[in-house]
Amino acid sequence: MKLCMIGTGYVGLVSGVCFSDLGNDVICVDKDQDKINNLQKGIIPIYEPGLQELTLKNFKNKKLKFSTDLKNSIKKSDIIFICVGTPTKKNDIGADLSQIYSVSKEISKSINRFKIIITKSTVPVTTGDEIEKILLKKVKKNKFSVISNPEFLREGEAIRDFIYPDRIVIGANDNKSAIILKNLYSPLISKGAKFISTNRRAAELIKYASNAFLATKITFINEIANLCEKTGIDVEDISIGIGLDKRIGSRFLRAGPAYGGSCFPKDTKAIVTTADKFKTNLSVIKSVIKSNSLRSKLLIKKVNEILKNKIKNKKICFLGVTFKANTDDMRDSSSLEMIPFLSKKGAKIKYYDPTGLKKEFNKLKNVSFSNSIQDSVKNADLVILHTEWNDFKSINFKKLNPSKNLKIYDMRNIYSPLKVKSQGFKYFGIGR
Ligand code: UGA
Repeated sequence: MKLCMIGTGYVGLVSGVCFSDLGNDVICVDKDQDKINNLQKGIIPIYEPGLQELTLKNFKNKKLKFSTDLKNSIKKSDIIFICVGTPTKKNDIGADLSQIYSVSKEISKSINRFKIIITKSTVPVTTGDEIEKILLKKVKKNKFSVISNPEFLREGEAIRDFIYPDRIVIGANDNKSAIILKNLYSPLISKGAKFISTNRRAAELIKYASNAFLATKITFINEIANLCEKTGIDVEDISIGIGLDKRIGSRFLRAGPAYGGSCFPKDTKAIVTTADKFKTNLSVIKSVIKSNSLRSKLLIKKVNEILKNKIKNKKICFLGVTFKANTDDMRDSSSLEMIPFLSKKGAKIKYYDPTGLKKEFNKLKNVSFSNSIQDSVKNADLVILHTEWNDFKSINFKKLNPSKNLKIYDMRNIYSPLKVKSQGFKYFGIGR
């Protein structure tokens, strides 16, 4: 099939590359000329394991093209995926849909034959109806169908998540287009992916409800971890103990820092705003947002306790600063709250991240990037394990010539407390 992906951000690029790998002819369009030039040279704008190899392979095969020419790319394609950003509005917590609507206007000017137009971006329920209204201003109803096909890709695992999805959700108000989409995904369905066909609004809401539920699960276990710390219980036992109940499930029950990234913080706020618009109070999700926003402060308080209320001049090492492992994404990472706070209090911070230096910390006083784990740990009073990269999982701190009184605050519970203690260091974890 001939596909056009509008927007080469995370969703558009990963989906476009994977669709081309399934044998479709894909054009990925972006208005950013530099980005397109780079992609044509095989330079990928994001860190995503496996993406570069797959891009080069399909670009060479000519199944994948990159272009800034939106009009022609739409004209040449049968299925148009809208993959532009839906960030949180400035001065508001709702989703900013301006890019979605401006792209819809562009599409309406280039419809030369029947097109299926799909929102892959996360869009609030009823956005598809609005897109349809925009298209109807220029195009007859029988010339297009607007469908919702949300993505469930995790950063760092996106290619795997695309090829082996738990489910594929198509929200279509006409049967013909739903069948075409089922056909597009048939290579994945034949490998076992579940296919769910709903109406358009339901698919839009499935995406938000999924992210909000996962954010709730994480926040739930984070709060239980707070209780565990007060009662001498290891939260890891609780995660296993409740996760084995199939009705609960074991995934997304890892206690840690506040959830971050480009999706959960944005989508929880957006669903609450949408519900408010429909005079429905999503009080559970509202309290999840609040609890998560207070979490970094809580962990900073713990850092203060570990350092016996003497943060000034203490040498603190951060291992990992991105919001999770296998990504270079800093959006809404809890380190963005912790590091500036600790620097303001006079701590001397070194950080190491496998994805390199982060411009977000450039201007902060006494915050510097280290080129290696060893250099960042050297002379530290406290190591904060912030992100669960594999690189950090089997560090032998003893071999790194650390200071004698080194303390380790393991915010992802990846170390065995007993092992760290047996090496002579003080160990602090989350909920243990
Ligand atoms: C999330 C969803 O998991 C994807 O299904 C969805 O497609 C995507 O958002 C999106 O809407 O585009 P992502 O933001 O890449 O994916 O990251 P997650 O792996 O979900 O992690 C989000 C945050 O939760 C991270 O800060 C992570 O550290 C935290 N987390 C996750 C926990 O603290 N504990 C867990 O058990 C799991």
